[in-house]
Amino acid sequence: MSQNPPAKRPVDQLQGMNLYLIGMMGCGKTTTGQRLAQALNYRFLDTDAVVTQVTHQSITEIFDQMGEAGFRDLESRVLSQVSAYQRSVVATGGGIVLRRENWGYLRQGLILWLDVPVEQLYQRLQQDTTRPLLQDPDPLGKLKTLLGKRRSLYAAADLRLEIQSGMAPETIVNQILMMIPTALKAPPQPPEYSN
Ligand code: S3P
Repeated sequence: MSQNPPAKRPVDQLQGMNLYLIGMMGCGKTTTGQRLAQALNYRFLDTDAVVTQVTHQSITEIFDQMGEAGFRDLESRVLSQVSAYQRSVVATGGGIVLRRENWGYLRQGLILWLDVPVEQLYQRLQQDTTRPLLQDPDPLGKLKTLLGKRRSLYAAADLRLEIQSGMAPETIVNQILMMIPTALKAPPQPPEYSN
């Protein structure tokens, strides 16, 4: 009796390809990314953390001194360096999708959008003082405006996971692991002609 070959694990299917987590501030890229990296036995990297390590400055200080454009330059430089690695889960800053050049690096891996409702983002970020873009008299309005401008960019990800409130991190990771093969399916082959 012939037996089916064992199903390939997501980590084998990825063949060393990086996973990039994109999405708004507060959507859980870092927490999810750390757990996902553990599950895949991948390295975990966070572009914001690398930016602060190499500059020895906080994101707020960088925004203050160099403006958003200066921060975006650093972010792109870090992404280009990070993309040289393999077998990495990369949590990106929420605005990484804004620069066209960044997509060339992101597309070398598998891009996953963690899509969290804006009210939930607001709940999580209400007390936050580390995101310069949210130091605004109307942070909820600001989040809505940013998401309005970015939604179509996030939607260009290979995979989108809609995150319901109260979803446990393990559930999120398991769902991602189940989704990976759907994004890696081989593209349809052209038909074979006999002559
Ligand atoms: C930003 C998101 C932040 C950080 C910076 C700008 C954004 O990262 O890069 O404050 O433009 O959305 P997180 O998404 O990790 O909070």
